[in-house]
Amino acid sequence: MRYPFLDLGKVNEPYRDELIAAATRVIKSGRYVGGSEVEAFEHELSNLLRVPHVIAVSNGLDALRLILRAYVELGIMMPGDEIIVSANTYIASILAITDAGLAPVLVDAGYDTMNIDTSLIEQAITTRTRGIMTVHLYGRVAWDNRLADIARRHSLKVIEDTAQAIGARATTGGLYGSDRAGALGDAGGFSFYPTKNVGALGDAGAVATHEQDLAQAVRALANYGSDRRYHNIYAGFNCRMDPIQAAMLRVKLSHTDEENADRFARALAYHRTINHPSVITPTMTQAVIDNVWHQYVIRVTCGKRDEMIRKLAEAGVGTDIHYAVPPHRQPCYHGQLRHGDLPVTETLAEQIVSLPVATGTSVKDAADIARIINTIDL
Ligand SMILES: Cc1ncc(COP(=O)(O)O)c(C=O)c1O
Repeated sequence: MRYPFLDLGKVNEPYRDELIAAATRVIKSGRYVGGSEVEAFEHELSNLLRVPHVIAVSNGLDALRLILRAYVELGIMMPGDEIIVSANTYIASILAITDAGLAPVLVDAGYDTMNIDTSLIEQAITTRTRGIMTVHLYGRVAWDNRLADIARRHSLKVIEDTAQAIGARATTGGLYGSDRAGALGDAGGFSFYPTKNVGALGDAGAVATHEQDLAQAVRALANYGSDRRYHNIYAGFNCRMDPIQAAMLRVKLSHTDEENADRFARALAYHRTINHPSVITPTMTQAVIDNVWHQYVIRVTCGKRDEMIRKLAEAGVGTDIHYAVPPHRQPCYHGQLRHGDLPVTETLAEQIVSLPVATGTSVKDAADIARIINTIDL
């Protein structure tokens, strides 16, 4: 491929020396679970997000599972309670909800954001609704005054799936003053899977929260349910982040804003250059901050998405689809998830194509790929 979709070696190449130095520090320290490296990472992420509590955990799914399980342990949610969530998401958002014994209620996306359509949230609320999981999919902040207002009026917890949006900022303020995604609502789950904007060299994740009780419960649950050594208040899990990943992430985290700005520049090149009659490009404001472009997702509206992908591959352009089969159509949930009609989510699954946008794709590459798209006859 002349323009690979993603080359993780290239993503980490600029930091190679720093990563090796950080790994060497951990090897020499003799501390391979917990300890100062993990604590320092938690402190640095909490500073970036302007949130009082950060708990470093094993991956993004575990971060979301731990938040919801902690709300159940604290008696704030009961098994069978409902969590409103975007239907257009990666299945991990839904897995976290069902794993805690809660019921996801899927709400359709809007074409303009591809995130939850906040005008549809209120009609999905019932007497069992306890929370809204807002998913900042593709790096775009899924947050507005309407969502914040509904959460307050109905006393709902707002959990943010921030797996794809580290560093993004909302243009309207969060519930607690911070404008960073993952710190807008009550609790945020982050993923540092290697392909993410801030990627570890393996699995890693984090929980951020403004609530002290939740932070304590999550920390205990992630460590066998123990609040102190050999004293277990919950039947918990082992969901800790390794110090070696914390050390890798401390290097990567310090470059969050510049990495995101580079993604914005590539997205802007696509935005300015693509003018194919059957292609709709994602909505783009000139604000670098409200979308950190984890994916640059176009829609092919003439019913020939797969032909577009094939012709791009022939021209040396790697692509992906996020996601071809939405969660409610996955075999594991067959017929079990609550939702009304989901026309936007269903249509998106048939139309979307993700273009290369990570480090390794230059701004010139993005413009070249856009010009290739413009010449494709469908
Ligand atoms: C939207 C979303 N939520 C949750 C996750 C889960 O993160 P992880 O892969 O670290 O478990 C991912 C990433 O895969 C994701 O994209």
